[in-house]
Amino acid sequence: VIAFFTPKVLAGKQVLLTAGPTFEAIDPVRGITNLSSGRMGYALARAARQAGAAVTLVSGPTGLPCPVGVARIDVTSALEMHGAVLSRAAASDVFIAVAAVADYRPAAPETRKIKKTAAGGEAMTLALTRNPDILSDVAALPAPPYCVGFAAESHDLAQYAEAKRVNKKLPLVVGNLIGDGFGGDSNKVILFDASGAHPLATTSKHGIARDIVARIAAALAG
Ligand code: CTP
Ligand code: CA
Repeated sequence: VIAFFTPKVLAGKQVLLTAGPTFEAIDPVRGITNLSSGRMGYALARAARQAGAAVTLVSGPTGLPCPVGVARIDVTSALEMHGAVLSRAAASDVFIAVAAVADYRPAAPETRKIKKTAAGGEAMTLALTRNPDILSDVAALPAPPYCVGFAAESHDLAQYAEAKRVNKKLPLVVGNLIGDGFGGDSNKVILFDASGAHPLATTSKHGIARDIVARIAAALAG
């Protein structure tokens, strides 16, 4: 019902999103991941679809059902997510990076299960290597899509969110303080763009998603 009455402000647009965590293998039975339910990214994919866009959702492991009408590409690691996104980004009008991407991955994942006797006894050191920044790489394309980043911070939200917007060369960053809404169904968010900080009224994740889609559509229109 909502879909039917939603203005088709993104009709004819290709929207690409990332959502959920990534999982970086240590060995066949262990890995490093981030806490992310994926719900905000899935709500945005749904809202973009309801606004008339053709939507591709590159998703880490979430267990969530794919929103109706959305093409989902399942990935596990940050490197897989990077490949899936970069092969599609140039053909997209909008890229929304909602995923909680692991910043580091094990430098040399083991193909066989690590035994604690072989790992070093009472202490073990795991070498990590930096993952590529998917959002920065998309924003640096010669003709980038309209790029939206997320900044979930435990403190100093405005400074960190605005720094991410400038450093990653993004027109829009969605900031939220973790603690208000992380893992729950609602969220308190502030939009950061070139004109400053714009708090959204607290509503459900679906309400926030619709507000963000409306902002993106307005930016594309003019
Ligand atoms: N992001 C990404 N690829 C990465 C890391 C982050 O695409 N390897 C995206 C996230 O999806 C989010 C934005 O960049 O939209 C900000 O992510 P965040 O983790 O908050 O920022 P970082 O630049 O990784 O900085 P830090 O974790 O040190 O705060
Ligand atoms: Ca990070």
